[in-house]
This record gives sequence, C-alpha cells and structure tokens, in this order.
Amino acid sequence: MLSAKRILLIIGGGIAAYKTLDLIRRLRERGASVTPVLTRAGAEFVTPLAVSALAGHRVFSDLFDLTDEAEMGHIQLSRSADLIVVAPATADLMAKMATGRADDLASTVLLATDTPVLIAPAMNVRMWQHAATQRNIATLKGDGITFAGPNAGDMACGEHGPGRMAEVPEILDAIEHALGDGPLKGQRVLVTSGPTHEPIDPVRYIANRSSGAQGTEIARALAALGAHVVFVTGPATVPPPDGVTVIRVETAREMLDAVEATLPVDAAICAAAVADWRVSSASDHKIKKTKGGLPVLAFAENPDILATLSQKTTGRPRLVVGFAAETDDVITNATAKRARKGCDWIVANDVSPATGIMGGTENAVTLITADGAEAWPRMGKDQVAVQLAARIATALS
Ligand code: C5P
Repeated sequence: MLSAKRILLIIGGGIAAYKTLDLIRRLRERGASVTPVLTRAGAEFVTPLAVSALAGHRVFSDLFDLTDEAEMGHIQLSRSADLIVVAPATADLMAKMATGRADDLASTVLLATDTPVLIAPAMNVRMWQHAATQRNIATLKGDGITFAGPNAGDMACGEHGPGRMAEVPEILDAIEHALGDGPLKGQRVLVTSGPTHEPIDPVRYIANRSSGAQGTEIARALAALGAHVVFVTGPATVPPPDGVTVIRVETAREMLDAVEATLPVDAAICAAAVADWRVSSASDHKIKKTKGGLPVLAFAENPDILATLSQKTTGRPRLVVGFAAETDDVITNATAKRARKGCDWIVANDVSPATGIMGGTENAVTLITADGAEAWPRMGKDQVAVQLAARIATALS
C-alpha cells in the first residue's frame, strides 16, 4: 500500500508515456497522491487534460510559468514528494540527469531535489545500447538513482531488444520497494564482495574463483529491507544489485581504503574473498620471458579487512559478520576464525570442489555466533541472503 505517499511523476516524451496514465490510476488506487510534471515532449504523447483528470491535480509543465512560480516554486516542487518517478525516462532526460543540466522544469526539479528518484527508461534498443547511454546509466546508478526496467521485447519502432518501458505493475512494485519502510530503514550497512586482483605486473595478476554472487545477493536483500547499502566490490563476475551505492576496487588495499572511507556504518558484512597475499615485488613493467630464468615473486601479507573492522576500539560497527570458506573441519575452523578475527558472526561454508558452491548458485552454510553453530539447509544463495538479512535486521533492532 502507498497510502499518504506523495509521488512527483515526471512524464517524458516517448510513446510509452501512454502507460503513465494507467500508472497514475493505479498509484491513486493504492492511496498515493500524484503531482504530475509533463515535459514539452511528453505533452506530444499525452495531453495535460488527461493527466490532470486522472491525477486529480494540476499539471506542472513549464519552468517559466509565472503562475506556477507564484503558487509553488520549482525548488519547493522538487522537495514536495516522498519519491520522484520519471516515466518514461528518455535517453535525453537521462543524459540531462547524468550531466546535471537544468534547462526545463523536469530537469531543474531533478537537479534541485533531495528526494529519492526512480526512473523507468524507455527508448529504442540502439539508443539504449549506445555507449553514451550506457555511460549515463552507470553515472545515474552511481548517483543512487533506482531503475525500473527497461524490459526486452518488441518495440513501437518495430525493433526488438532492451528498451521497452517496464510494465505498470513492475513500476508499481519498484515504487513500493523504493518507499518501503523495511526493518532496516535508516541503517547504513557495508557489504564487501567479490574477489580481489593482486597485480604481478601491469598485465598479470593473482585472483581467486569468487564470483561475488553471495555478497551481491546479501546487498540486494539488505537493500530490500530498507538499509542504505554501501557495496564495496572487487572485480566480480555478477553485476551489482540496483539501489545500492557501488564502490569498485581491485586490490585488498584499495578495498580497505574504501571500507575505511565508508565508516561509520551500523553493520559490516565482509563477504569478499580478499587475497591473503599480494606480490610485494610487483613490477611496473611487463616481466619478460628470459631464457633459462624463471621470475621469482616475493609476497607480502594483505591487510585483514574483517579483523580491522572487528577490532576497532572506536567506531566499530555494531555488528560485524565474516565468512569462512573452508574445505575441511568447517565448524572447528570457522569457530576459531570468529575468535581470532573478533567478529560477531561467521557464516561458514564448505567450498570443496565436490560441493559446487564456489561460483555456483547454491550454498549450505552454518551460522556461528556467540551462542554456537546453527546449520542451515542447502538453498539458493538468494535465499541464504534473505535469511541472513532478516537475522541482521533482528540483531540491529
Ligand atoms: O581468513 P579468511 O580469509 O579465511 O577469512 C575470511 C573472512 O575474512 C571473510 O569474511 C573475508 O571477507 C574476510 N577477509 C578480509 N580481509 C582479508 C582476508 C579475509 O576481510 N584480507
């Protein structure tokens, strides 16, 4: 339900604008109020009269309408909602948002706001795939903008592929999710994820087989409960989830720097597979193959991020959770690891090749806390994440 939620709906200029008429009706059915802003291009596709009749609210449409400015200035308009929804978010609107332009009412509101923003992109498939749009998408995600869609499918222009605006029920789900008052609302949670890459020389590195799948699912599950998640990720093979602040790093030392810069947090979940060692003799130049001689690599120990966080005397997160990927004596080793590192919980799992867990979609974990070991049945990594996030929410409440 969205009762008493205030949505500022910016309608961009695309054929999918017709779907926003239904979106307005469904939002109002759920108890939300809708203040519509129609761009000049949007007004080519839906009329102000239809929008205002369905919204039960006048339509704002021009930055320099003096009556609007007298009644409600664009700054006030930008702050008067619980959520700003842009649908359809055209390539042009997204480019304006990504570059911070403010040359009409919609883009000015988007630049002036301190309200969360959710966009439902819609455009031709080639426009979506264009390097410029992809750059803008990355920028907007980094700015904390939430995306609903786009979907892949047949397009009004006769082409096929990604770029269709999400359907109204999907946008409604995303809006409910974005406005969700989950149990972790107001909590700031750090999640480390993925492997690290430790350079040998400019072209070679030491890595591990972590895909980042479990950390990604945990970040997603925590965000779904309303947490503000800062996701510090090494070069993972799975993409980061939507709705989290993503910080990308390569090496263990970069990861520690990013983690330190993220503090303070209420909880830290260290799911990254951080390399234990780095090559201390890493070369600035590509190491050449020489006849009769093999390169000798010297190693240095990497900082232990989990232990550093756990053993902080000031500003320690209230809850620090580590992982233990073991191939033998899982519970004994993980229990010892919990004590050694000083973290509150350890999520232990058996990563022997026969289990298929490392890089796979399932996990069988044992949660080790001060109260002992609790074995969870084998389940999808997404389910492990949902259960762990629920436990975290209880621990932080
Ligand atoms: O010591 P080990 O690598 O087995 O411990 C695993 C746990 O410690 C994981 O939670 C991992 O994210 C964390 N870790 C870390 N920094 C390191 C090594 C491990 O945060 N340098």
